Amino acid sequence: MRAVLIDSEGSAPRLLEDADESLLSGEVALDVLVSSYNYKDGMAIAGKGIARTHPLIPGIDLVGRVTDVEPGTEGRFSAGDLVLLNGDGIGESRHGGFATRARVRADALVRLPAGLSPERAAAIGTAGFTAMLAVLRLEDTGVTPESGDVLVTGASGGAGSIAVALLAGRGHRVIASTGRSHENAEYLRELGAAEVMDRRELSEEPGRPLQSQRFAGAIDGVGSTTLANVLAQTSWGGTVAAYGLAQGPDLPTTVLPFILRGVTLAGVNSVECPLPLRERAWDTLAAELDMDLLDAMTTSIGLSETIDYAERILSGQVRGRTVVEVTQ
Ligand SMILES: NC(=O)c1ccc[n+]([C@@H]2O[C@H](COP(=O)([O-])OP(=O)(O)OC[C@H]3O[C@@H](n4cnc5c(N)ncnc54)[C@H](OP(=O)(O)O)[C@@H]3O)[C@@H](O)[C@H]2O)c1
Repeated sequence: MRAVLIDSEGSAPRLLEDADESLLSGEVALDVLVSSYNYKDGMAIAGKGIARTHPLIPGIDLVGRVTDVEPGTEGRFSAGDLVLLNGDGIGESRHGGFATRARVRADALVRLPAGLSPERAAAIGTAGFTAMLAVLRLEDTGVTPESGDVLVTGASGGAGSIAVALLAGRGHRVIASTGRSHENAEYLRELGAAEVMDRRELSEEPGRPLQSQRFAGAIDGVGSTTLANVLAQTSWGGTVAAYGLAQGPDLPTTVLPFILRGVTLAGVNSVECPLPLRERAWDTLAAELDMDLLDAMTTSIGLSETIDYAERILSGQVRGRTVVEVTQ
């Protein structure tokens, strides 16, 4: 099989044209059809603490065709089924999608929704899946299009772009916060943003713990000072769904937004998400996401380009989503 392999902590990843398939273990064997590139994959390839075992094939997403199912675990899947997997430890503690073959656990494996191509499922990937989970957290806590404006931070990133498109598609008035408004304002408006704001308004200084109430809800991929200011500007009863830490993992805030405005801080974890929620999110994505917008935000690279690409995604130069063609 072809695979990108990180041999040991601190070693440079290598592209192997004839990697040994006996490296792989797991109940369901697959031909990987396509993978995708996430911020976390950049961190794994750059040796920034994502790989929890070695050797490791990175890639936290894959879409594939089942070739074989281990005895005792038959039932849900059989040879020929098209499936997808996001997270569940692949690309971190188990071998992932940057290869032409994979073996995975059955428990988190989702059947490819009808009508969704493998390439589009990969384009959605962990980023889109996470954005959908965040949108569902807003919905489940009562944030509706009538509640008021909804903010998306890190809006030009993979998860941010899909969050903007999903929220606008549901009828929310979306404010997109970005550090690249000069180059990405038009792109974000095409995704459905009603307003584009400069991220420095939120990221530079932790402001007062309670500020003017601007947002009925927010989806935050940035953390740190940005998240503290978002919480301080969330209206009474609003929800902030937090999934990322592009600015930092710290959160310099107080309890005041929670105890004086009843704000909910809802965490989103795509890696250990239970199967029924995975299936709900993927069915909703297939039904709601505008596929023309998805195509317009997606670029494609070959497996051979994945090693050099880490630097680009980690330095915030990538816009939207990147599909990885594992045979190229
Ligand atoms: N919880 C989960 O399950 C989960 C799942 C997926 C991703 N994540 C995390 O979510 C984050 C985003 O992931 P992604 O794959 O969408 O990454 P991405 O495509 O690289 O997008 C990240 C975006 O964050 C913004 N950003 C970057 N550096 C920043 C800074 N210093 N301050 C403020 N904003 C900054 C940039 O958007 P602008 O240029 O528009 O400002 C960038 O495009 C990462 O931290 C990732 O690890 C978590």
